[in-house]
Amino acid sequence: MMEDLSTAEPGSWVLFHTCAHNPTGVDPSQDQWKQLAQLCKRNKLRPFFDTAYQGFVSGNLDKDGYSLRHFVNEGLNIVAAQSFAKIMGLYGERVGALHVVCDDKVTCEAVMSQLRILVRLNYSFPPLHGARIAAKILLNVDLREQWLNELVTVTDRIARMRIKLKEALIRNGTPGNWDHITNQVGMFSFTGLSPEESKAMVDNHSIYMTGNGRISICGLTEKNVQYVADCIKSCVSKPMQCIISYEKTNHFPIENIPFGCFFNKDYGKIHCCTRIGDEIIDLAILWPLFQGPLFKKLAL
Ligand SMILES: Cc1ncc(COP(=O)(O)O)c(C=O)c1O
Repeated sequence: MMEDLSTAEPGSWVLFHTCAHNPTGVDPSQDQWKQLAQLCKRNKLRPFFDTAYQGFVSGNLDKDGYSLRHFVNEGLNIVAAQSFAKIMGLYGERVGALHVVCDDKVTCEAVMSQLRILVRLNYSFPPLHGARIAAKILLNVDLREQWLNELVTVTDRIARMRIKLKEALIRNGTPGNWDHITNQVGMFSFTGLSPEESKAMVDNHSIYMTGNGRISICGLTEKNVQYVADCIKSCVSKPMQCIISYEKTNHFPIENIPFGCFFNKDYGKIHCCTRIGDEIIDLAILWPLFQGPLFKKLAL
């Protein structure tokens, strides 16, 4: 990212996500934000912050606003687009604010006049209902306190669901490493499921997620998390086709082998294989263990 940004022309706008990056759930560390601010200063880049999830990482507005505050403290004139849709549960009400940090009053007035023109051309008057709810919460000490506590409840639940999902995936033996589920932050998780696997989640299990593998952690509950993990397992397990017909009485205990006996297309030649977790094992390796006559006839 630093390498890419260092090639940007001076005056270029750079879009950052303040926190809880959508869709990855991966944020820069405080040290990395410091490096990014330095780079913006050095190369005269203009930072634009998309702020849709402040409070959804730590439950604390100040902590989650670190990047904004650091850039402003470093003297960078940022623009920040703030949304209350998620953090106040005001979906569909179109509530937000645009913040522009300017050097002086004259610039500020010029920016304001340009914004008024844009507003007039775009939507003229914004919807008021949601904005009044947000203003009431922000300006009333008790309501603000209640909202801040609710943010903590929401983020605690998100963190708990991340742990539960990871535990369920490990427990059911879903192939792969799932540490990223708990390392990521915010409302979304980039599961790592491929577009095909994500489609299978939708088509086969009616679990709706974007094609890039992103799920909303908020959609998980104590009741459905195991089910979701089991569906993920069924979608990430690469389907293989059993090509061996065998009699139940044969000498080779196919039914005792986990997941049966398979032909894997990716494997090149036709081999008798079995799948154990992430690994596909060629049964020829185990040949000395299985000397039954039927196996000899079918497998070679
Ligand atoms: C990063 C980010 N910015 C902005 C938005 C949209 O905010 P709003 O609903 O207020 O337009 C979203 C998602 O809804 C988002 O993920």
